[in-house]
Amino acid sequence: MKGTASMCGRLPRRAELDELKKSLVEFRPIPGPVVDFLRLVPKGSPMDVLRTAVSMLSLYDPIARDSSREANFEKARKLMAQTATIVTTFDRLRNGREVIEGDPKLGLAANFLYTLTGKKPDEVMERAFDVALTLHADHEFNASTFAARVTAATLSDIYSAVTSAIGALRGPLHGGANEDVIRMLLAAEDVDTALQTIRERLSLKVKIPGFGHRVYRTEDPRATHLRALSEEVGKRTGHENLYRTSKAIEETVKELKGLNANVDFYSASTYYSLGIPIDLFTPIFAVSRMSGWTAHVLEQYRNNRLIRPRADYIGKPVDQAWVPIEQR
Ligand SMILES: CC(C)(COP(=O)(O)OP(=O)(O)OC[C@H]1O[C@@H](n2cnc3c(N)ncnc32)[C@H](O)[C@@H]1OP(=O)(O)O)[C@@H](O)C(=O)NCCC(=O)NCCS
Repeated sequence: MKGTASMCGRLPRRAELDELKKSLVEFRPIPGPVVDFLRLVPKGSPMDVLRTAVSMLSLYDPIARDSSREANFEKARKLMAQTATIVTTFDRLRNGREVIEGDPKLGLAANFLYTLTGKKPDEVMERAFDVALTLHADHEFNASTFAARVTAATLSDIYSAVTSAIGALRGPLHGGANEDVIRMLLAAEDVDTALQTIRERLSLKVKIPGFGHRVYRTEDPRATHLRALSEEVGKRTGHENLYRTSKAIEETVKELKGLNANVDFYSASTYYSLGIPIDLFTPIFAVSRMSGWTAHVLEQYRNNRLIRPRADYIGKPVDQAWVPIEQR
């Protein structure tokens, strides 16, 4: 694919969009050695597995070292398609299930749910997951995107850049928060005990996952849509209680601390209601954010300058004498 819209700064024309979608299907299969790796690794830590498997992809990509614009765009599309395959393949294998090849007629969201669960989602479930993925796709200079940019700005390759990003995403202050949210919701017996725990945590100055944001002082606009999805999917799958508890927690945190829900708060109950295993919530964030990371990396290459902040040293006095180790 030569100059396409994402590289040109305009919306794609019909033929360009069709070609992009086609390539996102064609690039889905992952190299055999990566499947073998997924078969052998410990079952319990999908984000570690994803970070390593994404990094491994570069070893089997014949254009890994080609840093032309076209090659980088192709690698971006491979990464978008294959990150999803890595997550679902790993989950199937760790549960002793057969890997499902996928259906070329399904888009990324529906195919993800199909290759994860073995069931094709109905329209509502597909749309809910598609909206959730879209809402997570990009978000300015969040920590993981910045990490990707820093790596790309050294003119390192795109695989290294997104591997840095995955490492940054997994932390509980960033993408890891969605898993903490669902664990908090599931630990509560009912709404009253949930609120009691919230009050205790706040009085001890312990942070509540899914609340607060470095940039937003109003509601995170993504949370508005995810709240509605959580309610809709929860009703359909019998997990309305999670939505109700979430709503009560949201009101209490707002009242006591003035903090708003962020993207991770309602995505947690939405993913759980869609039947997604808890430890895949953050990997799913990566599946979606891969589009944002790679777009940022391509942009960085287009107009690159090394990102190298200066340190403002505020440590111990700088006039200390050096003392030989035996005399310290
Ligand atoms: C996202 C986050 C890291 C932003 O942090 P930040 O911009 O550095 O904000 P601060 O940590 O300086 O917080 C400012 C105040 O709000 C409080 N606060 C922030 N987030 C809070 C939370 N989730 N629960 C309780 N209090 C919180 C801080 O304790 C601090 O209170 P204080 O002034 O009384 O000391 C932070 O809100 C957080 O840790 N949230 C929970 C994890 C999460 O959901 N991450 C996903 C983000 S999309």
